[in-house]
Amino acid sequence: MPSTVSQPVVTPLTRSAIFLVVTVKSGPEHEGAIRALCADLSGLLRAVGFRDLEGRLSCVMGFGSQMWDRLFGTPRPKELHAFREIKGRHHAVSTPGDILFHIRAQRMDLCFELATQIMARIGDAVASADEVHGFKYFDDRDLIGFVDGTENPVDEAALEATIIGEEDGAFAGGSYVIVQKYLHDLTGWNRLPVEAQEKIIGRSKLSDIEQDDALKAPYAHNVLTSIEENGETLEILRDNMPFGDAGKGEFGTYFIGYARSPRRIEQMLENMFVGRPPGNYDRLLDFSRAVTGSLFFVPSATFLDDVAPDALTPAPPGAGAAQGSGSRQPGGDGSLGIGSLKRKADHE
Ligand code: HEM
Repeated sequence: MPSTVSQPVVTPLTRSAIFLVVTVKSGPEHEGAIRALCADLSGLLRAVGFRDLEGRLSCVMGFGSQMWDRLFGTPRPKELHAFREIKGRHHAVSTPGDILFHIRAQRMDLCFELATQIMARIGDAVASADEVHGFKYFDDRDLIGFVDGTENPVDEAALEATIIGEEDGAFAGGSYVIVQKYLHDLTGWNRLPVEAQEKIIGRSKLSDIEQDDALKAPYAHNVLTSIEENGETLEILRDNMPFGDAGKGEFGTYFIGYARSPRRIEQMLENMFVGRPPGNYDRLLDFSRAVTGSLFFVPSATFLDDVAPDALTPAPPGAGAAQGSGSRQPGGDGSLGIGSLKRKADHE
């Protein structure tokens, strides 16, 4: 059975990342430029990544709901929609974004070079909505001082949490991603006693050990982001990164969460911003303000490799890749795949 290659959603954590969100100008020439990049991205990645293979350069390309319709039409991923704002005790804003590039490497120069090469290709077709350069901070801590990422699923569990399977056969091998840029009130946060901070996160600050369930506050971050369905824990994969501008007093966490269904992340956000039950909200938000929020679909690398640069021709129902005259056949192996993992797609 032929297999579909996923984009490198599941990769070991890296020291650097660029989160680049762009909007695409209207007009067939601009959409054509994006379509041409889809199939060429793997080549760009190979060229830049080969300059230091140990730098583990990878790139995930995601598409917003409207962008999907403009570029690929039908069929469309079952759960793709624009990010829905949440107005609870705090506000999760929804902000523009047609395409996300999540570029990761051990070295920022690799990330920067790839972002530059991508923009050299599509710069005339897009406007930058947001660009954040993230860095690893002591012991994988975020700027509020806690180790971030500990409870992430790994290996097969990470694939299981993030990669679409039979539930949407035409898009098996794909994933969903939600990003939010948070700015911290670090002065206010650092005024809190460490015990109060630990109650908010639900872990010890120094040792990173999880608090005993019986001692956790009902509003602890790790209580509100633990969700279940039919008795089973629903996991997501996060690769948050600190960023900042010391001169401007800007200190932030770029949240990025991947999942095989966006509902998981949306449920966590609902619990954080509105509360579970309503009113029992995440106190981290008293010190962290979401200033962006967007949702993207991440098609498989096989899909991207097969995108034809010419005009959209709707694919037949059930097809896993956009079809157009001159499009290549599925199955090109691993082109986007520095660090990508294979997962069998049942539909092919
Ligand atoms: C200001 C933004 C955020 C910060 C600073 C932050 C920080 C943290 C920290 C320090 C932990 C504990 C260590 C770990 O397991 O990683 C954690 C856990 C977690 N966070 Fe966040 N987080 C943020 C936003 C979010 C958002 C928006 C979501 C989901 C929508 C989320 C989902 C989770 C999940 C699922 C866990 C693991 C819980 C567990 O199973 O123990 N976080 N976060």
